[in-house]
Amino acid sequence: MTDSPATGEMPAARPRRGELLEVEIDSLAYGGRGVARAEGYVVFVSGALPGDRVRAEITKAKRRFAEAQAVELLNPSADRVAERCFHDGEPCPGAPLQALPYERQLFHKREQVDDALRRIGGLDGFELEEIEPAVEQWRYRNKLEYSFGERDGELVLGSHVRGRWDLIVGVEDCHLASEAANAARNQVRDWAQLHAIPPYDRRKRSGVLRNLVVREGRRTGQIQTRLVTSPAGFPKPPVDLHTVIEGDSGGTDGPTGALGEERLHEAISGLRIEMSHSAFFQTNTEMAERVYAAAAEFAGLTGNERVFDLYCGIGTIGLTMAAHAGEVWGLEIVPEAIVDAEANAERNEIANARFMAGSARTGVRPLLEEAGKPDVIVLDPPRAGLSQKIVRRVIECEAKRIVYVSCNPTTLAPNAAQLVEAGYRLTRVRPVDMFPQTPHIECVALLEKAAPGRGSEGQSISVSSDPSENRGGGA
Ligand SMILES: C[S@@+](CC[C@H](N)C(=O)[O-])C[C@H]1O[C@@H](n2cnc3c(N)ncnc32)[C@H](O)[C@@H]1O
Repeated sequence: MTDSPATGEMPAARPRRGELLEVEIDSLAYGGRGVARAEGYVVFVSGALPGDRVRAEITKAKRRFAEAQAVELLNPSADRVAERCFHDGEPCPGAPLQALPYERQLFHKREQVDDALRRIGGLDGFELEEIEPAVEQWRYRNKLEYSFGERDGELVLGSHVRGRWDLIVGVEDCHLASEAANAARNQVRDWAQLHAIPPYDRRKRSGVLRNLVVREGRRTGQIQTRLVTSPAGFPKPPVDLHTVIEGDSGGTDGPTGALGEERLHEAISGLRIEMSHSAFFQTNTEMAERVYAAAAEFAGLTGNERVFDLYCGIGTIGLTMAAHAGEVWGLEIVPEAIVDAEANAERNEIANARFMAGSARTGVRPLLEEAGKPDVIVLDPPRAGLSQKIVRRVIECEAKRIVYVSCNPTTLAPNAAQLVEAGYRLTRVRPVDMFPQTPHIECVALLEKAAPGRGSEGQSISVSSDPSENRGGGA
């Protein structure tokens, strides 16, 4: 096959980088790439959806799988629906699944959770529940980060073109954000254009305007804008917060001053909450409520339990459980989020919750010493999941139940497998669609400790050595 003509059917042998193939996409891989298969060989195709027939250019070829980029849509899937979100004529880079009918998005996401747990984790015998569909399929994001750039000599404020750090497409109306959040972004763009303030150019390391972060209190109607710039003088911008960044880290965190309302006010799961700009908050408020409800259900609290909320952010999961628990202890690495969590407890008159700033890697043992052994542990780590060492710290806590809120099934899977090896059973998994039109998947998993002396009834695991699997890193 390596000597095949430049364009051909799926290879019988390993294709070469740069080779063009005609392939039929039969499923969707975690991360959103289309999957084409033939004779045991798998090609992951970016920019193609299930049911599409595409011409794809191989970008990487391995023994059992290859990666490719769709370069021509030869025969679109009959399932495709009209795309809705465009910027400057280009489909929205933040909504790569928008041509896939919503029901199909849900189907593939649930399959991906199942596939990750079985193939990466080698797990079996768990109940995979129905996926909980999103309340809003569009205009659900409560936070969006935009970049300033230049196109045809004009300043634009929008999104990076997929895979291009140097190309920004201007956004007028992003259908992932509310109308109010779009208006706030456009107001800042108009101000920048009016005063002819130059965008920051990463190549030349010159210019001023870098990013705009727009957050929204979905239940309060508050819009909070944070402008990120290089150090420079300019007329007062119409924003709440101003962050100044020197150098070229590419991030948006830095010394921040207030020009308007400093804190974001929100309501979730019956709590009134506030947060500082540096604290994490789930990007889909309505669906975070569903995730928290699933976590509370899986925790099975009766009123007396000691709960550890690890990776607690501004404390929301633990605080929603506090009324049904004996006590709640939160641990989180961002100190500002811990200050927010404490204030949120006080604001909601919750007296049985305590929060500690620290990393999960070094903070669990001191927490265990101070609080005593927990009955329930809630884990809600970033996408990288837990390192093996942190899982060992969690195992040392000997909790009866572990509720794992995961935004990445490919890192949940090895973490769950390690817990199962240590005597837990993975019993229930509920996928929740927090991110319609995108390949991201959230799920809540319940791991229960097998009763002492019943170790032999624990789950068996059989870890696959499939080289095409991404096991992810570990925080
Ligand atoms: C997915 S968020 C979950 C936050 C919170 N549970 C919620 O529902 O909003 C993950 C949180 O873990 C924190 N974090 C990241 N690495 C950490 C670590 N090594 N130790 C403790 N917390 C960490 C982040 O700052 C973030 O607040």
